[in-house]
Amino acid sequence: AYVVTENCIKCKYTDCVDVCPVDCFREGPNFLVIDPDECIDCTLCVAECPAEAILAEDDVPAAQHAFIALNAELAKQWPPITASRAPAADADEWNRAPNKRSLLER
Ligand code: SF4
Ligand code: F3S
Repeated sequence: AYVVTENCIKCKYTDCVDVCPVDCFREGPNFLVIDPDECIDCTLCVAECPAEAILAEDDVPAAQHAFIALNAELAKQWPPITASRAPAADADEWNRAPNKRSLLER
């Protein structure tokens, strides 16, 4: 499955959801996740993300491995999002900001 990683936090551009053929994105307050049980590995969402936050599970760097389990866990708790909406107002300021993981809201 593909995995949403740290740089989505506080950006949440949502361009990714418009291209997913199986609607497997789930939405939290300031982050999206992919339901790994639904993702068909089509790769379409990867190029859509302005934050380059979506990676194939096998390509997730060691420092971000926790996001693999986080996507699986939060996908079972959060509702689907199937159409893009406006990103966070300060998304561009948070894009590439370091150490955003502690800012994830559940
Ligand atoms: Fe959806 Fe394809 Fe991205 Fe998986 S890889 S989340 S199926 S767009
Ligand atoms: Fe997040 Fe990128 Fe989608 S910032 S909401 S994974 S377009």
